[in-house]
Amino acid sequence: VTHILLVTGSTRGASTNTAALRTAHALSIDGVDTVFYDGLSDLPPFNPDHDTDPPPPPIAGLRAHIAAADAILFCTPEYAGSLPGTLKNLLDWTVKGGEMEGKPVASLNVAAPGRGDQAQAMLRTVLGYVAADFIEAAWVRLPVPREAVAATGVVDDPVVRTHISDLLIFISRAVTPR
Ligand SMILES: Cc1cc2nc3c(=O)[nH]c(=O)nc-3n(C[C@H](O)[C@H](O)[C@H](O)COP(=O)(O)O)c2cc1C
Repeated sequence: VTHILLVTGSTRGASTNTAALRTAHALSIDGVDTVFYDGLSDLPPFNPDHDTDPPPPPIAGLRAHIAAADAILFCTPEYAGSLPGTLKNLLDWTVKGGEMEGKPVASLNVAAPGRGDQAQAMLRTVLGYVAADFIEAAWVRLPVPREAVAATGVVDDPVVRTHISDLLIFISRAVTPR
C-alpha cells in the first residue's frame, strides 16, 4: 500500500484546494492509502528558537505525518504571487530536520487556467531547497471552480473525481512503498 499525505495550502473553510484533497481522501483506491493533513492552522509561526527537541506537539505531528508518507500531494492556492504564508510556514518547519529530503512530491493546481502558476513556481523553489524528490509528471493542473464544491465539502463532478483518482494511482506507481 502506498501512503500519500495530502497537504492543502488553504485555511479557508470552503476552499477549492482543500475540497480537491478531501475528494482525493474520500476515493477508495486499491493499494492507495491517503491521509488528509488538517493541521495547517494549528502550526505555530516558525521560530528557530522553538525548533526544540522535542518540538512543539503540532510540529511533532506534522513531522510524523511526513515520515509516514511515501509521497506528498500538495494542493495550494496562490496568494499575492506566491505561496500562502501558512504553507510556507509549514515548509519552514521542515528545513532544519530534513524531513522532506528525498520525499516524493506532487502538486495539483486547481486554479482557473492561467492562474496560480506563481504558487507552483514558489512551491518548486521551496521543495527544491529542502531536497524533495519531484514526481514531475504528477505536477498537474485540474481546474476546480468554487461552484464545483458541494455542500458536503467534496467535488461531485465525475470527471474531476476520475482525474484525481488517476493522479493518485499515478503517484502510487511512481514511488516505492515504505
Ligand atoms: C490574499 C489573497 C491573495 C491572492 N492572490 C492571488 C494571486 O496572486 N494570484 C492568483 O491567481 N490568485 C490570487 N488569489 C485568489 C486565490 O488564489 C483564489 O481565490 C483561490 O481560489 C483560493 O483558493 P481556495 O479556494 O482553496 O481558498 C488571492 C486570494 C487571496 C485571498
